[in-house]
Formats: sequence, structure tokens, C-alpha cells
Amino acid sequence: MIRMKEPFLLLFLTSLLFCKEKQASLTVSPRSSQFFQWTSLSMSCEMGDNTTGWRIRRNTTDEIETDCGVTWGTSTAFSCQIGLTALWDSGVYWCEAKDGATSNVINITVTDHPVILQSPVLPVMEGHNVTLLCKTESPRSNLSAEFYKDGSLIRTEPTGHMTIHRVAKSDEGLYKCHISSDNESPPSWISVSEKPTTTSAPPPSTPTLQLVLSLLHHLLVICPYFICTLLMVSLYRNRSK
Ligand SMILES: *[C@@H]1O[C@H](CO)[C@@H](O)[C@H](O)[C@H]1NC(C)=O
Ligand SMILES: *[C@@H]1O[C@H](CO)[C@@H](O)[C@H](O)[C@H]1NC(C)=O
Ligand SMILES: *[C@@H]1O[C@H](CO)[C@@H](O)[C@H](O)[C@H]1NC(C)=O
Ligand SMILES: *[C@@H]1O[C@H](CO)[C@@H](O)[C@H](O)[C@H]1NC(C)=O
Ligand SMILES: *[C@@H]1O[C@H](CO)[C@@H](O)[C@H](O)[C@H]1NC(C)=O
Repeated sequence: MIRMKEPFLLLFLTSLLFCKEKQASLTVSPRSSQFFQWTSLSMSCEMGDNTTGWRIRRNTTDEIETDCGVTWGTSTAFSCQIGLTALWDSGVYWCEAKDGATSNVINITVTDHPVILQSPVLPVMEGHNVTLLCKTESPRSNLSAEFYKDGSLIRTEPTGHMTIHRVAKSDEGLYKCHISSDNESPPSWISVSEKPTTTSAPPPSTPTLQLVLSLLHHLLVICPYFICTLLMVSLYRNRSK
């Protein structure tokens, strides 16, 4: 009876390791959600678990849930290249595992406007500084740009870029920019994510308590299925001995 405890403990610990590593995130390079036509971009899927077989997929106005390397893009191990962007590459992109697990979703806009707004693709963390850049197709120095949020002019910047210091939830919105009155960028949504509440956590909990809570969280929320399967296998083995 005493020996039976060991495999359980081992299973418990390994299942925690397995379950913790399974969050994928999709990033785009250059870091922008807007692109001019006939430029190039690449996307990569960063994940903890290298064995699951993720693919990069998209929805556009013409196509639904198509894979990189099949009808669009060139696929390499964990990235996808679009050699020459076209208007129809505008859409939402994500990575997806064989079992259906998905990453964050990113919005890409390819435009024939003469101006784009370079803004963060991923949500900005509350309290961080964020810089928006208003860019023309042929780079020119010191162009004054006007920045709009939700349709209203918020700032005119002689340098073409605007920094929002210590971003707050209220900065979330739809941004665009103008360089001279007729050259307007498409709009892009900027989302703000809440700061992890580590500092405002109730009384400085001891590391052991945090560990126990974290273990419970994993056990109850993230991998009950996985643990059950392993426990059943373990029980079966013990019985057959
Ligand atoms: C994933 O695993 C393969 C083979 O096991 C290896 O060649 C590759 O470099 C790994 N990729 C990453 C991103 O860890
Ligand atoms: C892609 O389009 C399909 C069909 O309209 C929809 O069910 C799915 O939620 C979309 N995916 C994303 C990430 O928007
Ligand atoms: C993508 O853009 C649409 C329209 O601007 C917006 O409603 C949606 O929230 C955006 N999705 C993401 C993941 O940024
Ligand atoms: C543009 O920049 C140059 C040097 O960087 C400066 O000499 C010039 O005054 C600037 N023009 C305007 C309109 O700000
Ligand atoms: C954000 O900007 C403020 C004001 O300029 C500066 O004091 C602070 O160091 C910046 N924070 C980060 C994280 O760069």
C-alpha cells in the first residue's frame, strides 16, 4: 500500500509539467498590424510544446480557415512567410494545434492607402508606454502627423510618431493617423490588457501557500482530463501486479 503512493506523486508532478507548457502565441514581423501592398512579412508561432504540430491559419474575406503553405504563404517549421503582401491578405490569423487548441488571434490589414499606422499587434500591458508610428510608403523625414482615436483628433506630432505613456484601459480604441489632410491610414484596434495583480494580492502569501494554490489551480482547472487518464493507467497497472 505504501509503495502505491510513489507513482501517484510522480504522475502528479509530471502532469503539472506537461500542462503548464501548452500556451502558443502568434507574432508578426515587422511588428505591425498594417502593411503596404507588395511588402513582405513573416509570422511565427511560439509555443512551449514542440511536439503537437501547430499550423498557422487565417480567415480573410475570400477564404475561411485556410492553412499557410496551402493556398497562401510559404510554410517553414514554425513560421510562415508572405513574400509579397496583397490586399486580400487582410484578415485574422492564428495558430492551431491538431487537437484544436488555438493561440491568440491577430488582425492584419494590407492597404493601398499611401499611409499606414504602425501599432502593437498584441495587447499592450497597462502601465507600459506604447509608440505609434505614422508611415508613408516612401520614407520621408519629419512629416507632421495627426493621430485620431475613435474618430477624434487626439494629438498632432511634428515627428510622425506618438507615444502614450503609462497606458490605461481607457486608451483602448480604434486609432488611425493622417499625414496632410488627404493621406489617411486605415484604422487599427489597440487593446490594453490588465496588469497581472501580483502587487495588489492579499497579504503577502507564503511561497508554500502559493505553490499549493497553483497546484490546485492546475489540478482543478487545467488538466483534470490528463490526470484522470494517467491515474487510470496507473491503477490498471497496479491492479495487474
Ligand atoms: C522541435 O523539435 C525538432 C525535432 O525534435 C527540432 O529539430 C526543432 O529544432 C525543434 N524546434 C524548436 C522550436 O524547438
Ligand atoms: C473564422 O471563420 C469561421 C467561419 O466564419 C468562424 O467560425 C471562426 O470563428 C473564424 N475564426 C476566427 C479566429 O475569427
Ligand atoms: C480585429 O479588428 C476588428 C475590427 O477592427 C475588431 O473588432 C476586432 O476586435 C479585432 N480583433 C483583434 C483580435 O484585435
Ligand atoms: C526636418 O528635419 C531637419 C533635420 O532633421 C531640420 O533641419 C528641419 O528643420 C526639419 N523640418 C521641419 C519642418 O521640422
Ligand atoms: C514611460 O515613460 C515615462 C515618461 O517618459 C518614463 O518615465 C518611463 O520610464 C517609461 N517607462 C517605460 C517602461 O519605458
